[in-house]
Amino acid sequence: MTQSVTPASTPAKIHPLVDVRFSDPSSDRSADSSWAVERQLSVIVPTFNERDNVTKLFQKLEATLAGVAWEVIFVDDNSPDGTWDVVRGLAERDTRVRCLRRIGRRGLSGACIEGILASSAPYVAVIDADLQHDETQLPKMLALLQSDAAELVVGSRYVDGGSAESFGSGRLRISAAATLLAKRLLNIKIADPMSGFFMIRRDRFEQLAPSLSVQGFKILLDIVATARGTLRTVEVPFVFGTRQHGESKLDSMVALDFLGLVLAKLTRDLVSLRFLLFALVGSFGLAVHLVTLDIAFSLLPTSFAEAQTIAAFVAMTSNFLLNNFLTYRDQRLKGLAIVRGLVVFYLVCGVGLLANVGVAFSIYNQQPIWWLAGAAGALMGVVWNYAVSSLFVWRKR
Ligand code: GDD
Ligand code: MN
Repeated sequence: MTQSVTPASTPAKIHPLVDVRFSDPSSDRSADSSWAVERQLSVIVPTFNERDNVTKLFQKLEATLAGVAWEVIFVDDNSPDGTWDVVRGLAERDTRVRCLRRIGRRGLSGACIEGILASSAPYVAVIDADLQHDETQLPKMLALLQSDAAELVVGSRYVDGGSAESFGSGRLRISAAATLLAKRLLNIKIADPMSGFFMIRRDRFEQLAPSLSVQGFKILLDIVATARGTLRTVEVPFVFGTRQHGESKLDSMVALDFLGLVLAKLTRDLVSLRFLLFALVGSFGLAVHLVTLDIAFSLLPTSFAEAQTIAAFVAMTSNFLLNNFLTYRDQRLKGLAIVRGLVVFYLVCGVGLLANVGVAFSIYNQQPIWWLAGAAGALMGVVWNYAVSSLFVWRKR
């Protein structure tokens, strides 16, 4: 008796992502070399220091998505705790798991965007790794998209049945205020645009992707604001849980990112928060300059020219440090790079001063209005300093 290739009685356990024809001897793979897999859902999980959470999340996804052809893409910003290594271990055992490990970059929104763009299913979900989101909502969310009842489904804390009590009253109040502000300013209709838990049609996302900001935390707000009411959206309630391992990466600086996003969307990307911060730091630098000049001139035995030089260097140094701390906090220079950056910043500002004086002079020559010439020169200076220092001091790696 010859052995049968296909088991007669017991149905074969076929993994939904394995090419069935490959195990079928009657098919000729050299004639049709496609490895087609019909994934229904890609789950994107941004991670930073979540090594104790990712395995548990994977198991929960596996349980709740039984019957769905899904994949999960962890996007890890080279976590110091080696989250990527744990994910790689999962990926070695299961082809549905992948890890995108990003080196030299940080940011929740950017991680989500890259993860979604690396996916191939028609529907993509974004979910936090720390088990604070309720993954059992995913099948319901998928069904809503598949039946075309919506193009975007938001896991919402602020509709009936949802809650964010685990936030504690302080953060809950801040979250509510920011949500209200965003809704008013950007004319957003959904209840929870700050949620980090949602599912969207990949084709709709890809249309919006070029206009999204990779900085910051608020990817959903960005998507909804950029779509300007064109995305059919449904919210499903969920209860925001408590984090079991690790800690939140949201710090007070997240408020800055939020304001930046609102500003960019309000002005259709004309004004960037980075430029505003840079200009603000520059104005503060003027005050630093004058105070130093006063001290140096009155207290030290220096000439005016010497005092002015000292004041200029103190102001440039404080501008550099403040910009490194605030304006470019996502690309902050550390260690020796600070020294190199500071020297380049002095050079940039030196040339910026020449540009400032040059423009002011030529305007004054045509129209001797001192304040107009002075303001034009200062504007030239700050635009130059901003543009050139973003190229040479805080250049993207
Ligand atoms: N790749 C990457 N890069 N992942 C990050 C980064 C980053 O810079 N920062 C945070 N994450 C990951 C975390 O590892 C976690 O999986 C998820 O993003 C959410 O980060 P948390 O630090 O846990 O944020 P949270 O719980 O305080 O805030 C969450 O809830 C808010 C309210 O719903 C986030 O989902 C916010 O986006 C959301 O607004
Ligand atoms: Mn969290």
